[in-house]
Amino acid sequence: MEVIICKDYAELSKKAAEIFTEQINNKPDSILGLATGSTPEGLYENLIQTYKAGKLTFKDITSFNLDEYYGLSGDDDQSYRYFMDQKLFNHVDINKDKTFVPDGLAKDINAFMDDYEKMIADKGGIDLQILGIGINGHIGFNEPSDSFSKKTSLVDLTPSTIEANSRFFDKYEDVPKKAISMGIGTIMRSRKIILMASGENKQDAIYGAVKGPISPKLSASVLQLHPDVTIIVDEAAGKKLL
Ligand code: F6R
Repeated sequence: MEVIICKDYAELSKKAAEIFTEQINNKPDSILGLATGSTPEGLYENLIQTYKAGKLTFKDITSFNLDEYYGLSGDDDQSYRYFMDQKLFNHVDINKDKTFVPDGLAKDINAFMDDYEKMIADKGGIDLQILGIGINGHIGFNEPSDSFSKKTSLVDLTPSTIEANSRFFDKYEDVPKKAISMGIGTIMRSRKIILMASGENKQDAIYGAVKGPISPKLSASVLQLHPDVTIIVDEAAGKKLL
């Protein structure tokens, strides 16, 4: 596990974008695992700039998103599909037919989740997975639990995650209480992982991920067992590691 502590959010976004760009330039048909939330927004902005400068193409990329709110359609402006379109896909030359985000309205949810796993495996697995981290240490929406989830599942969001997500919604009642999330097993099968975190409220989660015991009570701690993880944080999130 390599830990990179950057001065601030701008620097960490740039660093993550450099690794991401190198991945795509080395393997233009990479299979990417993508995250939503505030943390990767700067990374996506940097990638758009790099694309506009003619130094990056997404034309042969396939992507799989980590998660989606259960019950939201991809057209809903709070959905993660919508987020990805707005923050990245609409601004680069990616083939949207090759961008996959879990379907929050899947009729047969169990069949859908099995298919999502199978699709990732059939494409050869994820080359580079981007992760944020929750204040409770979740990656994807793998909330604190007694065991690590093996595959994509429907999860109950914890009160602290619902509270954290509520900043994007007008009304607290509208915040989804469930999400479809890749499992820890799915994430750990990625060949390379970048976890990003910014801000003081992530410092305990980051400390637990890097130094804590490996436990499903803090999902990100499992990354200590992965052979190729880079943790990129700003000084505020990395404070307890300094
Ligand atoms: C989002 C995801 C979540 C977020 C985490 C941090 O796709 O999987 O694990 O990465 O909740 O969210 P932000 O970046 O908004 O603090």
